[in-house]
Amino acid sequence: MQKKEKIYEGKAKIIYSTDDPDHLILYYKDDATAFDNTKKGTIVDKGIMNNAISSKIFQLLSQNRIPNHFVEKLSDREMGVKKLQMLPVEVLVRNVVAGSLAKRYGMEEGTPLKRTILEFCYKDDSLHDPQCNEDHLLVFGWCTDQELINIKNYSLRVNDFLVGFFDSLGIRLIDFKLEFGRFKGDLLLADEITPDGCRLWDKKTGEKLDKDRFRRDLGGVEEAYKIVYEKVLNS
Ligand code: ADP
Ligand code: TMP
Ligand code: ASP
Repeated sequence: MQKKEKIYEGKAKIIYSTDDPDHLILYYKDDATAFDNTKKGTIVDKGIMNNAISSKIFQLLSQNRIPNHFVEKLSDREMGVKKLQMLPVEVLVRNVVAGSLAKRYGMEEGTPLKRTILEFCYKDDSLHDPQCNEDHLLVFGWCTDQELINIKNYSLRVNDFLVGFFDSLGIRLIDFKLEFGRFKGDLLLADEITPDGCRLWDKKTGEKLDKDRFRRDLGGVEEAYKIVYEKVLNS
């Protein structure tokens, strides 16, 4: 896969075209943002750790027959992926009350949910990624009926796999965000699965091992990412 020109720079990654029109390269940066880009910073070597974590998880998901965009890990910071037409939607998968769910309903962080909750957001930073429901997805044409069925089915299957995977590493998977896109008529899981977009708590101590350390100024950000990186890579 030959890198060509830069086509997009986002908050955490840069996208390059390649010599193959069906493939892109995702370059993982150390930049960290939160709260719609209003809080900005750097997490040293985050790009290297996130590329490695995400690559490993996508490979495991492929082995578990969850269709995804991963093609190959190309270098420390570069991942080769299929070029998708992204759906403008973020899927939030929640196992335990935390973050905006706790805030919205005045609930205590850490309360287990009796079953997994799926939530949807419209991906548009200028609108602050507003929450939406299944009707919005369908009526506004952000996905088809069949795609919505697949999104829900894949999200729950990813959750089942990841809960067990992280549990085996001594980590509790609290919640996470997924993105999907279309490739030649198929719906594929895309973007990244990393401590940037997951809440990961140490099973024994409850210590936060994810981007909440940056969002909430808890310190030990790089150290937390490194713990996840080493556990995932040594699994
Ligand atoms: P953001 O755009 O939210 O700032 P990033 O910095 O992570 O986020 O940029 C990566 C962008 O690439 C995201 O907008 C994501 O939707 C998009 N993306 C992820 N995987 C693919 C893919 N396989 N094909 C096309 N676009 C993708
Ligand atoms: P929230 O509690 O802030 O809504 O976040 C739920 C999970 O989704 C958390 O693990 C962080 C992740 N997430 C993102 O990665 N990007 C986003 O834009 C949002 C809103 C959440
Ligand atoms: N990634 C989003 C932002 O930069 C939300 C977050 O992760 O807190 O604002």
